[in-house]
Parts: sequence; C-alpha cells; structure tokens
Amino acid sequence: MKAVTQSPPAGPSSPHLTEEAVRQALRAVVDPELGDNIVELGMVSSVSVQPGGLVVVGVALTTPSCPLRGQIKAEVMGRVGALPGVSEARVETTEMAQEQKAALMSRARLKARERAPRTTVPPRARVLAVSSGKGGVGKSSVAVNLAAGLASRGYTVGILDADIAGFSVPRMLGMEGALEAERDPADPSRKLIHPLTRRVSAHSGGANGAGGELRAVSMGFLAGEGDAIMWRGLMLNRAVQHFLEEVDWGDLDYLVVDMPPGTGDVQMGLARMVPSAEAIIVTTPQDAAQKVAARAASMARKSHLRVAGVVENMSYFTCAHGQRYELFGAGGGRRLADDLGVPLLGRIPLEPAVASGADAGRPAALQEGTEAARAFAALVEAVVRSCPVVEMTSCSARLASRLASLAGPA
Ligand SMILES: Nc1ncnc2c1ncn2[C@@H]1O[C@H](COP(=O)(O)OP(=O)(O)OP(=O)(O)O)[C@@H](O)[C@H]1O
Ligand SMILES: [Mg+2]
Repeated sequence: MKAVTQSPPAGPSSPHLTEEAVRQALRAVVDPELGDNIVELGMVSSVSVQPGGLVVVGVALTTPSCPLRGQIKAEVMGRVGALPGVSEARVETTEMAQEQKAALMSRARLKARERAPRTTVPPRARVLAVSSGKGGVGKSSVAVNLAAGLASRGYTVGILDADIAGFSVPRMLGMEGALEAERDPADPSRKLIHPLTRRVSAHSGGANGAGGELRAVSMGFLAGEGDAIMWRGLMLNRAVQHFLEEVDWGDLDYLVVDMPPGTGDVQMGLARMVPSAEAIIVTTPQDAAQKVAARAASMARKSHLRVAGVVENMSYFTCAHGQRYELFGAGGGRRLADDLGVPLLGRIPLEPAVASGADAGRPAALQEGTEAARAFAALVEAVVRSCPVVEMTSCSARLASRLASLAGPA
C-alpha cells in the first residue's frame, strides 16, 4: 500500500502562509557586503500576504543603484516563492532615508564588532584611517601632518603605515631605525613589536604645554626603502594584520593609519579587525566629486567604516604677492563632504613647504608661520572636535578596557 504523506494545504487558506513565516524565510537572504541577513539589517520594509497566495515584499536599499539590487531581489523571490501556499512573489524596492541608512550601518558595525578578532590596538584609541578614492592625492602627507599636529598638542599618537609596498611614513617623519620585537611576558609563545618613538614639542595652542609622543610602525623600519619589493610577495597580505595583532602600542589617544591607494584588501582587513576605525577621506578640488564620493561611499559600505570627514588637499596656491590661485578648481572637497553627509575637516594649500618638509622629515604642521602649518593646525582642531579622545572616566570606555584586559594582553 502507498504511504500517504500529509502536506500543508496550499492556497489562500494555508494557515502556514503568514507574514511571520515570510519574514522567517527572508532571514536566509544575506546582504553579502554587510554580512548579515536583510531582516536583521532592517532592510525588509513591509510584507503583505494577500488572498490567493500573492506575497509582496518591500525591500529598502541603501542606494537605488545598489549593485546587489538584482541579486537580493532574485533571492527574495526565490525564498518566498518556495513557501507553501505562495502563488506569486513580488519585490518592491525603495531607497532608505538618511536616518535609516545610518541605523543600518550602525547595526552592521555592531555585528562586525562582535565578530572582530583580538588586536593590540588599545580599546580607548580613536583609529583614523586616512584614505582616498585614488592615489597621489596626499594621504600620507595628511596622515603624517595630522599625527604630528595631534602629538604637538600633547596627545599620544600612533601612526601605522599601512602602505606596505609604498611606505613613506619613515621619511616624512624623519624617523629611522629597526623595529624590535620581544617575547610577550604574558604569553611567551608570541612576540610583541615595539614601535619607534619620537617626542614632539608643544604647539603654542597645545593642551598641556609638554608636547606629546609619536609612535610609528612601518614596513620601512623592517626593510630599507629599496627592499620593499622583496617583501611584497611574502608579506603584503599579512603585514597589516601582523601590525594590528603584534604591536605593543601602550596607551594611545589616537592611531592614525596611512592607507595605501585604492579600496582593496587592506581597507577590508582593517575594517574587519578594527571595526571602530573611522575613515578620513582625502581628495583634491578637481576630482569629479560624484565619482570619488561613489567610491568612498562604497568603500565605507563594504567595510562598515564610519566616515569622520573629508580633507581637501592642494586646495590653492598663494604666490609671493599674496594672490591665491585655485590651480585645480574649487569646491571638490565641499561637494564630496556634502554628498557623504560629513564635515569638511580642512583645506590644505599646495605649498612647497609640504613637499620639502616631507623630504626632510620635518612635517609642515610642526613648522610655525607658514600657510600650510595654519591649515594643518585648523585640521587638527577640527579632528579633535569631530573625534574627541575617549576619556577613561566614561564607564563604557572603562568597561571596554577592563574586558580587553580580561581577554588577554591589549
Ligand atoms: N599640500 C601639498 N603641497 C605640496 N606638495 C604636496 C602637498 N600634498 C602632497 N604633496 C606632495 O605630493 C606628493 C604625493 O603626496 P603623498 O605621498 O602624500 O600622496 P599619497 O596620496 O599618500 O600617495 P600614494 O597614493 O602614492 O600613497 C608628495 O611628493 C607630496 O610631498
Ligand atoms: Mg601614500
């Protein structure tokens, strides 16, 4: 005799086809960039189950031109269409409002934080990743001058040169030497790398009059500048990860990261390991703001990094007679900042002192009296305002540090 299997009744009267069942099925649809399902991420804006088995799902996307739109739509239709009792599945996409996007990104960041591996970056440090949509716009110049300017105001500042193949931090800061590593007393199976340090004397507007300290780590302290190529194949992928896992920074107020050009693996790796990092995006005035904005926004979306603000570099040149020339056009930084909905943190002039200071290891930010020095000072003020140091008196910072110390060496 044939066995009779009991299957749930299909069609409009199916008791199984509820809004909840549809939402449950949608939990299988993962946004690959944000790494979580669309229900958890709050992207399912509505579910309607209609008589006759028609199901309409509203999906809110971060941008109408979301490259994943087709993929997400097809998966939603597939998952919903496979539910018993569904005669037809439809997807209606909308664009999220600004607040919804912000909420989505903070949910994604929270998830990323839960998944993040352990690093030696002090939990209190504000990690500022100086990035750009393209190469040669002045990321390293901005990173080095920002770090030096923050140190001159009395902060303890780490600088991580994440440009492994094209490092420039050692030369720009006038620092040389070899990084030394020693066994971690708490865990002899691993080594801790000590950064090279440089005292920076106080800026006239400095907070405590005593100046501060720069602690730098770069591939340039492991290999001579000419040896960079040799390291490329061996270390490129893993070097930044090593630095994040093994450098004994001590306590830091800020960790400035000089990112390599492009929006590739290093960005994703930093974001995965230090999800609290914030991007500072450097641009020049003439960059087609839309294009750079799209790349920067997509980088931030993929990596969940918060964008702290924009710096416009090479904004203008002032000749000996005091006349200002906007050699590369005007307004690119402002437009990019507006497009991203973040502050324009600074506009740095094109000035020979920036380039010659970089070559001589004397950052322009530390030379008083030049226009570039004033512009960097204003940038430092804006960064301190937008990204204030985390005081250990706040209970969440104390808790974070306590948890880190319980979890192991930090
Ligand atoms: N404001 C400025 N005034 C004068 N020269 C500048 C200025 N900013 C950067 N430069 C010079 O432009 C060149 C490129 O700058 P920098 O190395 O900082 O760019 P980058 O974005 O880090 O480049 P890469 O993408 O290769 O890492 C350097 O020679 C630097 O000294
Ligand atoms: Mg650079």
